[in-house]
Amino acid sequence: MPKEAWGSRLGLILAMAGNAVGLGNFLRFPVQAVQNGGGAFIIPYLICFLLLGIPLLFIEWSSGRYGGKHNNHSTPFILDGMGKGKIWKYIGVFGIFTNIAVVAYYTYIESWSFIYVFHALFGSFENMSQTQVAQFFENYISFNTSTTGIPFESIVFYVLVLILNIYILSKGLGGIEKAAKIGMPLLIIFGIILAISAFTLGESGRSAQFPDASAWDGLNFLWTPQFDSLLNPKVWLAAAGQIFFTLSVGMGTIQCYAAYIRENEDIALNAVSAGFMNEFVEVVLGSSIVIPIAAGYLGMDWVMENAGFGMAFQTMPYLFQQWGQTLAIFAGILWFGLLFFAGITSSLAMGTPWMGFMKDEFGWGKKRGAWSFGLLALIMGIPTVLFYQEGVFEEYDYWGGTVSLVLFALLESILFSWVFGIHKGWREITEGADMKVPRIYKVVIKYITPLLLLMVFIGALVTPEDNDWTASILNLWNGDPWILDNHSIIRKLSNHELKELLLEADTLVEKKEIADKLFYSNLARILLVSLFLFITSLVYLANRKRLLKSRI
Ligand code: PHE
Repeated sequence: MPKEAWGSRLGLILAMAGNAVGLGNFLRFPVQAVQNGGGAFIIPYLICFLLLGIPLLFIEWSSGRYGGKHNNHSTPFILDGMGKGKIWKYIGVFGIFTNIAVVAYYTYIESWSFIYVFHALFGSFENMSQTQVAQFFENYISFNTSTTGIPFESIVFYVLVLILNIYILSKGLGGIEKAAKIGMPLLIIFGIILAISAFTLGESGRSAQFPDASAWDGLNFLWTPQFDSLLNPKVWLAAAGQIFFTLSVGMGTIQCYAAYIRENEDIALNAVSAGFMNEFVEVVLGSSIVIPIAAGYLGMDWVMENAGFGMAFQTMPYLFQQWGQTLAIFAGILWFGLLFFAGITSSLAMGTPWMGFMKDEFGWGKKRGAWSFGLLALIMGIPTVLFYQEGVFEEYDYWGGTVSLVLFALLESILFSWVFGIHKGWREITEGADMKVPRIYKVVIKYITPLLLLMVFIGALVTPEDNDWTASILNLWNGDPWILDNHSIIRKLSNHELKELLLEADTLVEKKEIADKLFYSNLARILLVSLFLFITSLVYLANRKRLLKSRI
């Protein structure tokens, strides 16, 4: 039987770009940029792209192709093949774990955009005020009133979108390639149309209530570089985090996709092409829709105050209404359609490491692999749907979608350069390459990337109070203790902030609310740890199976 492989180079690049281009490009990036000072964010962001993003793409694409040569398609045994220690296969567990943790909440957002396409189409937002549009979203995610008449609609559509993912996944790489070939071009066209609308909005959207509003303010805010942020670690952390999320590095999906590339086929140019395609969509399209349109109607001050994930669902439908009924329907379909395509090509990617692993180790076929993945996603996902407002979603995103990525990327970059060896690694990157990889990257991959990752990780682990590094270091120098910020990983781990709030709460109602939050945060963590242990035990079993086989 011939090995499973991508159908064509275009298919591979589109699938990889589809993997990277996701909700992160349109929802997460604008918010991160606004919250971190706009033009102050862009410079660290671009530097992180060059010093973390591109090197990690090279590392992951080449590790993946290397693994594929030895018939390994998921990180546990890809890493195992690269280092002698027993530990690497267990570190590889991250590359399956994060995907299932992230897909659980990611498909939920995907299902929102799916249903919002229909709401736009059927004019559900007609004549609604901004507050009503926001309330509409609240109704959708809580179970009080239904927006479609279907009871428990948010669960129903979540499961539906999950099943659609499973269906496409059960068709194997061909299904993913097809989804990317349809989704990616449409998404780019939709994005360009919406960006042009934003560019031509100018000051025409301002109302009596927001007399200073201008779409240009949004663009100026993002694109006027400010160099002072270069000294602010908080901005660097946010920039690095965004680069990880948007390029899908530190997740295990790139290794998995790359494992299905034919031997000696180019990876260097492919990696760079898919990476730059993602950056085009993020930096050019992602920054030209939500921010300028919201700034055009509501003013930049409003945007700075309200920047958040909900803007896409709680504000955009209202803003589109200002274009008149027909255009609003059109714009709504484009916007939510774009989000849906961006989302699904990414969530499909998250299914592949699990499926690859179960196939390699236990001989599971595509159907079985896809459905079992769906079942795991559902078990992990239902709590995020039911207890979205209680913070389960955020716990998953923080531990599964942020901390794990940085940790895993740090470990794999050490493995690649220092255990596998940079010389062998460099050969893997350049073998069959259709471009000349600048030699400087050999140095960057060996020293700078791991060092920067270490700094990012330690920075997040022990973030000092108020993020004030200079003062904290001076304090330490003077013999004062290091006081952690509530956002540091260590304090998050012990739920410090919630516990503090619990002590301070004066009313019983407040106390109950915080105690509930603590409960759900612990529930989310128990689920995450169980998932990790479950995959670890599968890797253990798989390894035993391999050992037995090699003895015969
Ligand atoms: N890169 C995707 C985004 O920007 C998210 C993602 C992460 C996809 C990991 C696949 C794997 O939304």
